[in-house]
Amino acid sequence: MSAERSRETQNPNPYPDPSRKDRCSCDSPEKHVKNLLSARFMEKLRNALRGAIQKYGPEFAKQRLWNREFSAGRWVCLETTGDHRVHVHIERYANNGAVLDLGCGPGTTGLELSPQAYSCYTGVDISDVAVEKAHSRAVEAGRAIQNQYFHSDILTFCPTQKYDVIFFGDSIYYIPPRSILPMLRRYSGYLTAKGVFIARMFDVTGRHRYIFDTIERDFDLIGEWRNADHACIFAFRPRGDE
Ligand SMILES: C[S@@+](CC[C@H](N)C(=O)[O-])C[C@H]1O[C@@H](n2cnc3c(N)ncnc32)[C@H](O)[C@@H]1O
Repeated sequence: MSAERSRETQNPNPYPDPSRKDRCSCDSPEKHVKNLLSARFMEKLRNALRGAIQKYGPEFAKQRLWNREFSAGRWVCLETTGDHRVHVHIERYANNGAVLDLGCGPGTTGLELSPQAYSCYTGVDISDVAVEKAHSRAVEAGRAIQNQYFHSDILTFCPTQKYDVIFFGDSIYYIPPRSILPMLRRYSGYLTAKGVFIARMFDVTGRHRYIFDTIERDFDLIGEWRNADHACIFAFRPRGDE
């Protein structure tokens, strides 16, 4: 996430200058460099493991990981409005109807929408910590009836109604690549006749290009809005629909 990246740049350098003897108890520069390299390796390993659990882990492991991160404050950045103004696009296609937000986190998108622009909003997230937060924010904002939240994995959630917009806000990366198309085809059955999917992703020309390509192959792209940091919002619908 761009917000996450910017927070990481504020952290103190985890690899201090080897000449600063006061920061390290190693008795030789070689040993110091070796320790730094192994710390770096361990961090990479931890990140790889985290990514693998987020995408391929069993539901309980994904839930535990996201809960831990939300509880530790890692995702506080999601509680403020980003600069992508995704709600404008959702409002346009919502047509005063129903919005489903898959991977809603602390529910910021559901609160950014103008209350007059939709009839009901459903937020779904694998983290019950995030869902609780989203619910209490909706209560505070006087939207406890208009906005409903459910704790579930996107891959297994079964809607009980059709939606005018089904939205993935920086959440589609956490779906295993092979499951993206079957998942979208399943959710296509929960779109209204004029319903659309909207997704927001970053680095869409880089490591997430495959998601965009996968969608473009099977769906009709009906709108695309990119910004300078390669963040992209795009709207698409099942092929053949008007
Ligand atoms: C980067 S956050 C984005 C949150 C929110 N959409 C926003 O833009 O503020 C990704 C969210 O997806 C949720 N998530 C990840 N994998 C999920 C899954 N398989 N099912 C449901 N939610 C998932 C995480 O718990 C997290 O809240």
